[in-house]
Amino acid sequence: MTILKFSGEVAEFYQRYRRGYPAGVLDALVAEFGLTADDAALDLGCGTGQLTLPLAGRTRVAVGMDPEPDMLAQARKAAAGIANVTWLVGADSDVPALEALLGKEKLGVVTIGQALHWMDRETLFPALHSLVRPGGGIAVITNGAPMWLHDSPWSRALREYLSGWLGQPLVRTCGADQEEQDRYRASLEAAGFTAGETVVEYEDEIDLEFVIGAVYSATPEDRLPKPDERAGFEERLSAAISPHAPFVEPVQVRILTGRKG
Ligand SMILES: C[S@@+](CC[C@H](N)C(=O)[O-])C[C@H]1O[C@@H](n2cnc3c(N)ncnc32)[C@H](O)[C@@H]1O
Repeated sequence: MTILKFSGEVAEFYQRYRRGYPAGVLDALVAEFGLTADDAALDLGCGTGQLTLPLAGRTRVAVGMDPEPDMLAQARKAAAGIANVTWLVGADSDVPALEALLGKEKLGVVTIGQALHWMDRETLFPALHSLVRPGGGIAVITNGAPMWLHDSPWSRALREYLSGWLGQPLVRTCGADQEEQDRYRASLEAAGFTAGETVVEYEDEIDLEFVIGAVYSATPEDRLPKPDERAGFEERLSAAISPHAPFVEPVQVRILTGRKG
């Protein structure tokens, strides 16, 4: 199930304006899976490498895999000078072929950050079970709810503005809601993993430029405001949310783990 929408300029916005993962997230992965400098890691749906790069700092090698070449091009640029990271063009449906590639080598962890909602997890999780070593496993990570879905005046104003622009209500949580998390957990258990969860929470004060960049990073390339419409779009967005500054975003990173026995 591949839906490509992170192409072109959107990949540039993603690299610049999507936040990475705090050290506590990496600490949780190391603790849950006993990761060491001997382990190899796969970051599936790696995008521009927000999670792949810190994973490389905790393992022998980290491989970022994503079907969108434009995202991987940005990731490769961001990884300049880091020797133990590499990139593969591929989707979740390509995972079974990795087993043949790896042979006897098993992975310490497979991370899926903000990307499982694009994948067929009922096929993917059993395939990943064969790829990881005992004690290792999968981490499905949600990097906070979308910034327009919070219960704060600036977030509500942003939601209202964007809904009007798109002509539809903004409701998709990209996997951050409890019902979806419960479904992910059930699928992990059905594939033979022992499920667990760690949450890392913090607050981030962001500025107008970051809000606009994050909105563009989540907009399919063909729906971005055209270059000559962009200044107007940004002015109206600013008028809607600026009265509610400062923009403090609560970030709840949920790390749903599936450990192989
Ligand atoms: C929201 S980005 C997440 C990027 C990064 N992992 C992060 O945590 O910020 C989702 C990524 O999933 C990728 N993707 C979409 N469909 C996919 C699939 N079927 N298999 C693997 N990755 C996919 C997209 O190309 C995109 O780079």
